[in-house]
Amino acid sequence: MKKITIAIDGYSSSGKSTMARELARRIGYVYIDSGAMYRAVTLYALEHGMASPDTGLNAAELVKALPLIHISFKPAGADGVQHTMLDGRDVEGPIRDMEVSRMVSPVAAIPEVREHLVRLQQQFGKERGIVMDGRDIGTTVFPDAELKVFVEASPEERARRRMLEMEQKGEKVDFDEVLANIRERDRIDTTRAVSPLRKADDAHVLDNDGLTREQQMDRLLELYHEAIDTDH
Ligand code: DC
Repeated sequence: MKKITIAIDGYSSSGKSTMARELARRIGYVYIDSGAMYRAVTLYALEHGMASPDTGLNAAELVKALPLIHISFKPAGADGVQHTMLDGRDVEGPIRDMEVSRMVSPVAAIPEVREHLVRLQQQFGKERGIVMDGRDIGTTVFPDAELKVFVEASPEERARRRMLEMEQKGEKVDFDEVLANIRERDRIDTTRAVSPLRKADDAHVLDNDGLTREQQMDRLLELYHEAIDTDH
């Protein structure tokens, strides 16, 4: 069967990763979480003294180190989740911590970081048969993707989702703090100079607030079938 490229973009914690991962599993495609790549670079910066909540970010040092940062993905194991690897180490847990979440938007706003990761993402997608989720997949990484979806959900709903995720990991967090972090990231993500978060003109909008997981999946599968039946 024809293989296509599927780009799923949207705001942080909109549920797009869960959706994209499940879609990939159902149709036998490779799933890539591009946000995890920005998070891995941020973790590297934190661990190498190039970023800290107190002193901020040393962008010049981080840009110099980019060729040394090796990011890959370990295929899903028993937990069904693909794990992000940084220099051969499994960092799937640490890249979701609040410290990384706080620093990731400024890191993702550095043009050289974006260029570097976009190139890597395009290499991952060379063979098609891929579902990638992020912020600029339909606009910058794969502007020719045969299927583009833009996921929307309110900040409050996204904060609830994030809280649940963190509580499941045993982290104690405050709702207002999580909501503030989401709003701040939205602001940075939508206003940065390079590849700001925006819906591609040819993307289908999926409003996640009022849909169950099954309904989301039904809609995505419908869009997928439409896309593979269309001559591109
Ligand atoms: O989806 P996420 O919350 O894991 O993304 C983490 C950060 O990375 C988010 O603040 C925006 C940034 N990001 C980006 O700029 N471009 C992407 N394609 C994916 C994520």
